[in-house]
Amino acid sequence: MTQTNARALFITGIKNAHAMENQALSIMKPQISRIENYPDVARRLEQHIKETEGQIARLEDILSRVGEDSSTFKDWALSMSGGMAALAHTAASDEILKNTLANYAFEHFEIAAYKSLLALAELGEITTACPALEANLKEEEDMAEWLDANIRGVTLHFATLSEAGEKAKV
Ligand SMILES: [Fe+2]
Repeated sequence: MTQTNARALFITGIKNAHAMENQALSIMKPQISRIENYPDVARRLEQHIKETEGQIARLEDILSRVGEDSSTFKDWALSMSGGMAALAHTAASDEILKNTLANYAFEHFEIAAYKSLLALAELGEITTACPALEANLKEEEDMAEWLDANIRGVTLHFATLSEAGEKAKV
């Protein structure tokens, strides 16, 4: 593969990651506003929203370095569909569980995306982008790990609240 073609694949991948991170924001933000009974989850989501905003800035920086203008991205539609996905869970009494599973899946999607982008960065010899991509990857792995460690606790807390008749509350 020529370096020009490899760079084109890389740039498309970075744009997709930019859309993915905006989707992540639109999934997490509505969750925080509804959580009352799971303050640890709310705090961790709050932290990851800040991290995600930093990740978006890193991606925009990478794009400007390869000569792309990030303000022209057409990822608004994707970002909306993420909002719809989170919305779909709000009617369920087990909303906190559904969101926990969805967040776990989404973090792993993001981890795979950054591993793929690192491979494309090497292929296109755009290795200056690697530290920023590795920083994003590390934050996704940390978030996935936190979710993994909390699936059991959140589920048991949900079960206790459910029995106490508080199942309608998140
Ligand atoms: Fe993430």
